[in-house]
Amino acid sequence: MRKNIVAGNWKMNLDHAAGLQLFAEIVNLVKVDVNGNQEVVVCPPFIHLSSLAELVKSNSTVSIGAQNCHHADSGAYTGEISAAMIKSTGAEYVIIGHSERRAFFAEDDLLLAQKLDIVLKNGLTPIFCIGETLEQRNAGTHFDVIENQLKEAAFHLEENQFKNLVLAYEPVWAIGTGLTATPEQAQEVHAFIRSKVGSQYSIQLANDLTILYGGSCNPKNAAELFGQEDIDGGLIGGASLKARDFVDIIKVFNS
Ligand code: 13P
Repeated sequence: MRKNIVAGNWKMNLDHAAGLQLFAEIVNLVKVDVNGNQEVVVCPPFIHLSSLAELVKSNSTVSIGAQNCHHADSGAYTGEISAAMIKSTGAEYVIIGHSERRAFFAEDDLLLAQKLDIVLKNGLTPIFCIGETLEQRNAGTHFDVIENQLKEAAFHLEENQFKNLVLAYEPVWAIGTGLTATPEQAQEVHAFIRSKVGSQYSIQLANDLTILYGGSCNPKNAAELFGQEDIDGGLIGGASLKARDFVDIIKVFNS
């Protein structure tokens, strides 16, 4: 049975004190609400990683993830953070290939392939993001775009590596816009992703793969989205900055 995951991507928000406070509120609210097959992940900016990872040592209901990492082991890359550094904080996940990294930091699939390698090499779980822009959807090329992103950045992995990935389908036009993919639109793409993974690796691996939806997910629309057969949870931006909203989304799996 594949795992359900609700992950919060805080993006570039919250100073240290505000991050600690939000995290404490989330942990407090979520305590009694998580079922056995579900995982909750919080992905704060790098500056919070150590403190939050330290806090979850005594509370296994929430895991911590980073939002990015460099593709090299170490070296003269001023301002960058390595996968090994992230691992050393106690964090367990790293978001790779978020569309904001692709758009604002020119990260392409070749670079993302290297990032997936280094994240896996360090025993962390990548949350690998794929998704089309509005232009690509309007042009009807979204399936090709998504298939290419998988092929170029992830399908070089061996089956025993790929099985450690979490995928996130995040249509760029739905991120931070208040526009959500309809449950049918999202389900159609998730089923497509699963079928491509099935042909590349195995049906078993595809069935066990957790595929998250991201893009203006909120407590009102989460139940319908997560109710779709191939949607196994969400990668939440804006709504993960409000403890109550984030926890209401998590609780969808318990209702
Ligand atoms: P929003 O939930 O704010 O649309 O952001 C989604 C996202 O980018 C999560 O990674």
